[in-house]
Amino acid sequence: MAIDEHLDEWRRREAAAQAGGGAERQQRQHREGKLSARERIDLLLDEGSFEELDQQVVHRCTDFGMEAQKYPGDGVVGGYGRIGGRLVYVFAQDFTVFGGSLSEANAAKVCKLMDLAMKNGAPIIGLNDSGGARIQEGVVSLAGYADIFLRNTLASGVIPQISAILGPCAGGAVYSPAITDFIFMVKDTSYMFVTGPDVIRTVTHEEVTKEALGGAMTHNATSGVAHFMAGDDAECLAMVRELLAFLPSNNVDDPPRQACTDPAERADPELDGIVPAEPNLPYDIKDIIHRVVDEGYFFEVQEHFAENMVVGFARLDGRPAGIVANQPAVLAGTLDINSSVKGARFVRFCDAFNIPIVTFEDVPGFLPGTQQEFGGIIKHGAKLLYAYAEATVPKITVITRKAYGGAYCVMGSKHCRTDINYAYPTAEIAVMGPEGAVNIVYRRDLQAAAEPDTVRAEKIREFRERFANPYIAAERGYVDAVIKPRLTRPKLIAALRMLENKRDTMPRKKHGNIPL
Ligand code: HXC
Repeated sequence: MAIDEHLDEWRRREAAAQAGGGAERQQRQHREGKLSARERIDLLLDEGSFEELDQQVVHRCTDFGMEAQKYPGDGVVGGYGRIGGRLVYVFAQDFTVFGGSLSEANAAKVCKLMDLAMKNGAPIIGLNDSGGARIQEGVVSLAGYADIFLRNTLASGVIPQISAILGPCAGGAVYSPAITDFIFMVKDTSYMFVTGPDVIRTVTHEEVTKEALGGAMTHNATSGVAHFMAGDDAECLAMVRELLAFLPSNNVDDPPRQACTDPAERADPELDGIVPAEPNLPYDIKDIIHRVVDEGYFFEVQEHFAENMVVGFARLDGRPAGIVANQPAVLAGTLDINSSVKGARFVRFCDAFNIPIVTFEDVPGFLPGTQQEFGGIIKHGAKLLYAYAEATVPKITVITRKAYGGAYCVMGSKHCRTDINYAYPTAEIAVMGPEGAVNIVYRRDLQAAAEPDTVRAEKIREFRERFANPYIAAERGYVDAVIKPRLTRPKLIAALRMLENKRDTMPRKKHGNIPL
């Protein structure tokens, strides 16, 4: 064969791979508001950095006339490239080829990338848009899924794993994203469910649309399965890039430091006035977070789920930190099942990837109610406690106001090996609030009193004066310093610098038994 013929053959094969399932199916993809697999990869990665692998892989199925239908790449485009100059691995399911369904061959491509990502210590990003298991291949396709699930599990806590859902993701296929660290979804074009509307109608007679059952808002606000929601593919991919800028490449790397123009010593007098003098008035904890972190930039995670707990990434002095905060503006900042699970998973992620944890605490306790107790708040609350206690990364807590009861212990208390505990002068640290405490401790006196309301008010005042402050905890060293709110940023940065080389360990064990 002449050299020109070799090159022609190469061009023909390259063009066939680039075409995916053909122009018509690509146009349909666009009509539905979705980008193609290759367009998505180009937007995700630094320009020109994509190196494709296994472009010419095809399936080996001979059933149902499949031997006559072969598309190079077999429904998934994958390889490696750079985000912000750092190595990542990526695969994008191509819905235009057999609906992006997972075959033996395309599962092997994904597994090859996951193995490379593990060996080379770099994140893996999956762009999901698939009709699920390749129906024509039967159990061979299911085996491919299981091969991926195993790798997801082994990679958990070793390299960051990110899933973007950019189309259908149904049946058992949801379990790969579910094991990864963060799930992004796109409004109106993506959905995830284990069993779809048709099966639900048959089995439970419920009528539900795909969007209501498993759309982006459902999983961001109701189920808590997803962590981020974007308006379209392009925004979603930009958000993935934004997230990765906070994360180390693997569990033995440090998170990437950025140059910081926001002065470490910056005091903010406005902070002195954010926590209201009246203990029952709400305020927005995000006002404090924004004022404290570098350039006011807070990248919130699970913004729409369990809003009584705020979690997300920010930088202090250019270094990434995980922020965990009670939100007094929602449910008075109480801890409930959803917020406990949300906080616990985030704390464990930060701990796995060497990201220091900064906690802002204002919690009146656990949310009371039969729903909570029947739902297992005992074990779910325990997850948050467990997560904080096992975390060995630098941990700093700022008590802005209430730190009551069990919730005091849970939210990064000194006793669960938090390194530095600060409190604002407005902090109240006690077993419970003065009202509740007086009703219990002075029940008999109140019953016997001629004017119980006057006695109650007097006792509450007494109780508040004695306990509703940070100084009893500070006298015992449970609080390391009572700080002026305006100095929160310099104090946090000083502590983080001090803790930069912190080393702490867990006892040797196979793994712990977190109360699931
Ligand atoms: C093979 C598939 C496919 C699949 C879609 N296609 N899903 N091919 N295996 N699983 C093909 C279609 O034949 C069609 O081919 C093209 O992809 C686009 O599909 P449409 O149906 O035209 O698209 P749309 O109307 O947008 O509907 C998308 C869909 C639907 C909702 C995903 O295709 C669908 O319901 N597919 C089956 C889903 C499913 O039941 N999968 C198995 C789930 S169980 P042409 O040639 O016309 O373009 C599972 C188990 C995982 O996944 C196990 C893990 C443990």
